[in-house]
Amino acid sequence: MLLEYFIFGLSTFLMRGAQCEETEVFAEVGSQAVLPCKCNPSSPFIPSIVWSKANKGTVWRKQKSGLQYWGSSWSSKGTQRIQCPHGQFERGDFHLQINNVMGEDGGVYSCRVEHRDQVTVNVVILRIIEVSVSSSVSIWGNDVSISCNVTPWPYGASVHWMLNNSPFVPQTENASNKDTTKSVVREKATARLAGNWTCVMDYKGKEGRASAALTVKGIIHPSKDNTQVYAALASAITLPCVFSPGLIPSNLAWEKLKPEFLFKPAPSRLPASFSQSPPFSQRPFDKSATLKEVGFEDAGRYRCSGTIEGQRLTRNMQLVVAKIDSLSKKTGSVTLTCQLTDTSKVTDYEWVHVIYDLNGTQSVRSIQKGETLIINKVSEEDQGEWTCRFYGKEGILGNVTYNIQLMSGLSGQKSSGGSHNTAAVVGLGFLLLVLLLILAQMYKNHQRRKRIFQYPALETIVHTVSNEREQRNQLKK
Ligand SMILES: *[C@@H]1O[C@H](CO)[C@@H](O)[C@H](O)[C@H]1NC(C)=O
Ligand SMILES: *[C@@H]1O[C@H](CO)[C@@H](O)[C@H](O)[C@H]1NC(C)=O
Ligand SMILES: *[C@@H]1O[C@H](CO)[C@@H](O)[C@H](O)[C@H]1NC(C)=O
Ligand SMILES: *[C@@H]1O[C@H](CO)[C@@H](O)[C@H](O)[C@H]1NC(C)=O
Repeated sequence: MLLEYFIFGLSTFLMRGAQCEETEVFAEVGSQAVLPCKCNPSSPFIPSIVWSKANKGTVWRKQKSGLQYWGSSWSSKGTQRIQCPHGQFERGDFHLQINNVMGEDGGVYSCRVEHRDQVTVNVVILRIIEVSVSSSVSIWGNDVSISCNVTPWPYGASVHWMLNNSPFVPQTENASNKDTTKSVVREKATARLAGNWTCVMDYKGKEGRASAALTVKGIIHPSKDNTQVYAALASAITLPCVFSPGLIPSNLAWEKLKPEFLFKPAPSRLPASFSQSPPFSQRPFDKSATLKEVGFEDAGRYRCSGTIEGQRLTRNMQLVVAKIDSLSKKTGSVTLTCQLTDTSKVTDYEWVHVIYDLNGTQSVRSIQKGETLIINKVSEEDQGEWTCRFYGKEGILGNVTYNIQLMSGLSGQKSSGGSHNTAAVVGLGFLLLVLLLILAQMYKNHQRRKRIFQYPALETIVHTVSNEREQRNQLKK
């Protein structure tokens, strides 16, 4: 190849009076390439122009008489891919345009302009640049390679990659990625790799660019493992597991992972209120599950998995349950504490009081920051919904609400109701006691009478004893 260029260059150079210049031109596949050719407009006459390509002969030619000739291989479906705009000729510009360039258009071109006795030769090296992706739609986790191809290859050029307009830094430590030419990127497909890939090539002060799009399919929501899902105690929650539209996973499974197996998760039982989406839903790629009523013990790690084209895709997520603990004291103060099963991502708490006016419109009043809220003396104004909002680095994570009833009124009612009851109980008890005493007295009397009838002799003895005592007393006197 090199030798061919050399001979081609030499042969053009050897023509009489030639001024030789070499220009590098990059063009992306499918675009229009512009090959420059400039001469001093020393003569008012239109010169003869010949554009030719190494090994392919004449591309386009215009004789002094004005006669034009197109190379046979430059038209497709009856339309010429090449053009030399006449409008610029007077200014000495004889550039050649090639539309819809292909890889095989790359190579060495020469432009030969002949004015009477002066010949100018421009040499242009056209390099066609193209980015190709091993498969433009890749399944998450599969190997994917993105390559930058240039024909002819510019030896010594530097290559770098842009992904969605920012420089791409390979993450996988792979020897092939450290290749000095860096013309091929090999990675495992993840969402991070999805987008518009641009290969930027610098060579001899010229820059070539080409782009290609890569789509990565898999579980798109949640897009990352160990995503946290926040739920208020006793609320209903959806555990997301959404595949790319069009994907229908087989062998779908939901599992709850035991916390003690942090490194090698083992499945444990799913909560009672857990339900999977029906298998034949309108969105067969949406495999989200729901918990109708979240319990505090439902917190933990869950895993959704499904098979796509033989590749097992999984997504782990963590359910964090939030609740409010309340502590009311006799003094009338109430302490509310916002409790989460995992606070590792929580940076801030905010307490708001939700107020509804007569029309039912809701308004929110921010009260304070911090995990704990103390209301010293609960008044009528404080009744209603108290919401603890919790925030992470990227904004609100969730909220949990506690309802303060009209404490004073309610406790008053309660206590007064209680006193009524005690009065009734005391009264009833008294009555019962009286009744019991009467009964006991009656029983005692009855028993006594019974004893008297049983032992009539005993009574006479008692009588005689007492009579004798009386008689003795009388004698002493
Ligand atoms: C490194 O590249 C090779 C192919 O060149 C591939 O088989 C291998 O999986 C890659 N390694 C990693 C860690 O991506
Ligand atoms: C990709 O990026 C390049 C350069 O930033 C841009 O020219 C091209 O239009 C983009 N392609 C797509 C499909 O977004
Ligand atoms: C309730 O609605 C009425 C009419 O819709 C309006 O005039 C009034 O100001 C509202 N009251 C409050 C407290 O928003
Ligand atoms: C609590 O979260 C729910 C659901 O995101 C939202 O609709 C509601 O407005 C939030 N409440 C407050 C007071 O922020």
